[in-house]
Amino acid sequence: MARRLTILALALFTLFGSNPLLADPTSIEIGEGRKLVAERCGACHGTLRGQISPHDSAPPFEEVVKLYPPESLAEALAEGISVGHPDMPTFEFSPEEIERIIAHLKSLE
Ligand code: HEC
Repeated sequence: MARRLTILALALFTLFGSNPLLADPTSIEIGEGRKLVAERCGACHGTLRGQISPHDSAPPFEEVVKLYPPESLAEALAEGISVGHPDMPTFEFSPEEIERIIAHLKSLE
């Protein structure tokens, strides 16, 4: 019985532990996500709370998370965001990177 519970717990952990939508972000993930968006998005977007975007028409992420829940951005990040704006490059991120970026975006909500 105890063994079965351990297996169940392990299965749940593997299932949810790696799912960015269900896992509780750790402060390490948030920190890594913050670094990632600062590097890859920070040239145009304000990526931190209260930060103004360097690019006039790029909305700061604080505003972006009000329009789109961070979870809904996960897919866009996986496929390479492209909003059809010439100034906005396309990106591709690994699942780990996405998990970290979502963790950071959630911390802005
Ligand atoms: C070279 C400048 C630039 C970089 C780098 C950049 N963006 Fe953007 N982004 C823009 C601009 C400009 C817009 C506004 C597009 C528009 O209004 O059509 C935008 C719009 C967006 C939007 C849509 C907001 C909305 O209201 O529709 C999202 C989401 C977004 N960016 C995410 C990101 C992410 C995530 C990164 C980093 C991985 C990133 N951007 C990097 C310039 C940039």
